[in-house]
Amino acid sequence: MLRPIRLFGDPVLKTPAEPVRDFDLELRNLVRDLNETMLDAPGVGLAAPQIGVSLRVFTFHVGDEEGESGHLINPVLALDGEEEEDEEGCLSLPGIQFLTPRAPRVVAKGFDMHGEPITIEGTELLARCVQHETDHLDGILFIDRMSKKERKLAMKAIREAEWYGAPVPEIRVSPHSTQRIS
Ligand code: NI
Repeated sequence: MLRPIRLFGDPVLKTPAEPVRDFDLELRNLVRDLNETMLDAPGVGLAAPQIGVSLRVFTFHVGDEEGESGHLINPVLALDGEEEEDEEGCLSLPGIQFLTPRAPRVVAKGFDMHGEPITIEGTELLARCVQHETDHLDGILFIDRMSKKERKLAMKAIREAEWYGAPVPEIRVSPHSTQRIS
């Protein structure tokens, strides 16, 4: 199911997400929704807080080769190499692209949706994506990683964006729907 993507200004994006404890059907549905919403956007990565679910889960799709797409739950990252700046964007800040420093190599350990331990090793775009999405789980946005000068330019572009200042929906800490049927 496609889910609305939360935009900058929504407090869920600044809230550290909870670790996943139950590897159940709800979690598998969450991973499926993240994948569908990410591919539809389209984007190369999407973290659960971006669809209003404050859990440590993200999906990624940087290419069609093996190992270039998938999901990761409760990630722990080991970064390697000197940070490099490159253009970066975010589905929660549509149209905003600025230079963001990231480590060029990452090894990410975590779990798949069945609770099996997995390791993702990435360079270049995959390394950048894994760092960006894991930051989302800590309530950190890419603008928080930019140089002072670059962030100033980004904030100006954000304030001028047509989506800026839209009303904010509620936060959820469970993949269960909180919508009431009356
Ligand atoms: Ni993002």
